[in-house]
Amino acid sequence: MFNPYIGINFSFTKETCEFLDSMMPVYLKEFYKNFPETGGFFRPKLIDTPFAKEIKDFLNQLNITDIKTEILIHKDIGYSKLRIENLHIDAPRGIPLPCRFNIMYRGDGLSNLHLWNVDCRDKKITQVSVPMGGSRYQIVGNNVTEKIENIKHARRVKIDKEFLSKTNKTADFLRTEFVHAVEKTGSERILISTCIHHSWDYVYEQVINYKSSL
Ligand SMILES: [Fe+2]
Repeated sequence: MFNPYIGINFSFTKETCEFLDSMMPVYLKEFYKNFPETGGFFRPKLIDTPFAKEIKDFLNQLNITDIKTEILIHKDIGYSKLRIENLHIDAPRGIPLPCRFNIMYRGDGLSNLHLWNVDCRDKKITQVSVPMGGSRYQIVGNNVTEKIENIKHARRVKIDKEFLSKTNKTADFLRTEFVHAVEKTGSERILISTCIHHSWDYVYEQVINYKSSL
């Protein structure tokens, strides 16, 4: 079964929210100035920050320990229509990343997520470098319409906005080793996003066990 998503209740403490609110303008200033694309991962040293520590403590409870927290920022580029962004597979170390733990920090609440049952072995996949290090796998094609057409044979799952992370209420585990794309407007969108280097099956089982123990 292709089941690439599981949501969970999650919130930061008041102190951590205050820390995030105080630091985010600093992060954003650097990102807007130096990051060459309209969106991507901001990777300063976050390991000692209160939010990275809270995420670590939370995930450790679920026996998820091989992790790294980053910030995914989509710049405000000023259009209001929803559109599907680049279809890709995350590969921060040059190999597909099994999954991410995503926490919405700021967004317009309109984003949906699309995932396809296509992994990096598919013949329509190509590997490209990304700015500031790492790589990702993409679908061949000159634009999103062509890319979607190129993998129309594959099962597609849409995770509707109503199920995706709500700031300081819920978070998402997402299977990022399969092709996925966010559907969003051009307003600013910020996620605290943690790389998980455990298999999706392991993570899924830990989350189900944790939720059934509550
Ligand atoms: Fe991704």
